[in-house]
Amino acid sequence: TGYVTLDRGYKNTGATQSAITFLDGEEGILRYRGYSIEELAAKASFLEVSYLLIYGELPTQEQYDSFATAIRRHTLVNEDMRKIFDGFPVSAHPMCVLGSLVNAMAAFYPDSYDGSNNTDLHITRLMAKLPTIATWSYKRSLGHPTNYPKNELDYIPNFLNMMFALPVEDYKVDPVVAEALNVLLILHADHEQNCSTSTVRLVGSSQANIYSSIAAGINALWGPLHGGANQEVIEMLEEIKAGGGDVAKYIDMAKNAKTTGFRLFGFGHRVYKNFDPRAKIIKKAADDVLNKLGVNDPVLEIAKGLEEAALNDPYFVQRKLYPNVDFYSGIIYRALGIPTNMFTVLFAIGRLPGWIAQWKEMREQKEPIGRPRQIYTGATLREFVAIGDRK
Ligand code: CMC
Repeated sequence: TGYVTLDRGYKNTGATQSAITFLDGEEGILRYRGYSIEELAAKASFLEVSYLLIYGELPTQEQYDSFATAIRRHTLVNEDMRKIFDGFPVSAHPMCVLGSLVNAMAAFYPDSYDGSNNTDLHITRLMAKLPTIATWSYKRSLGHPTNYPKNELDYIPNFLNMMFALPVEDYKVDPVVAEALNVLLILHADHEQNCSTSTVRLVGSSQANIYSSIAAGINALWGPLHGGANQEVIEMLEEIKAGGGDVAKYIDMAKNAKTTGFRLFGFGHRVYKNFDPRAKIIKKAADDVLNKLGVNDPVLEIAKGLEEAALNDPYFVQRKLYPNVDFYSGIIYRALGIPTNMFTVLFAIGRLPGWIAQWKEMREQKEPIGRPRQIYTGATLREFVAIGDRK
């Protein structure tokens, strides 16, 4: 216990054993419970993948039906939560609102900390209510009434309906939009011990309730170096466009990151040193979705130009910096009609089953409380000086 190894940012420290997600950063491999991300994105639904992550196996039809039905029955959010929501300024960032309201759920469900053993019920509530809460911020930003869930709809169409339906006209979910969202949510569903997931496990390791643990993960995800990068990418691409498309200028700024403090958002990854398999799928999906929807977004060309310039520049090559999951996802979200400040919220909806699975695994493995060590660098023992004698 007297000997402490310093590993800032935990670059090389394993904090747990886990059977959920396999990741090989050199080879660009990502698998959930043994299934390749490419196959899941092509063939599965987001709820099937959620079940797989949380319970360990792909569901049988019967298991799927009871999981999906339970979620449908819990999509309504307690009306008193709305009073909390109404207290936020209209300009509040939707990630701040989401983290706060998920934490508030603990107050509405004391069975999460009173010793009841209702884990499956908490899982259902979280999966069901997160999309409902997420849509409130967007509707309010428009000055529109919020939509109640329509439980005859499936998970993703229900979310889209709450986002986009207006009382004055019929809203039909476009299957192209629903399928694109399905792929994006699957690609975001888990990523082993990333910053937000480690946060969920660490907070949960004190045996804090599941809502507060997941809320902590949402707050960690908001940061621009993590999930917040998807919003930063679009803002950066817009800025490049407004400045006449001068990609080289931004490459130069990023190469001088040490002095400019500027990073190419959507580039680089702690573990992927060859390519990010999610970015590969998303780049192709961006082309497909924009084509199918007939959207022409000039920012897609700027993104491709930026990627090409970076991949041909020794600075990026030497440091093995490639586009990550956040680089092209925003372009798709935008084509689906989702506003920029909601991008990270979409990431949170996608990551929720991963956080839940990791929280559950951590508790089932009876892991000890997480408690990193430090190497002290402050003053040695000194004597107290009375305030009047201090210089
Ligand atoms: N632009 C310019 N330089 C970069 C970038 C970038 N995006 N990313 C890393 N570098 C440089 C960094 O300055 C360092 O250079 P040097 O060796 O000269 O000191 C070198 O590459 C290694 O970077 P690092 O910061 O030590 O790497 P890390 O593993 O600590 O950070 C990262 C990983 C993802 C935080 C970082 O690459 C980054 O800040 N990227 C931009 C933000 C981003 O896109 N985040 C999303 C990550 S993927 C999904 C998610 O988690 O949400």
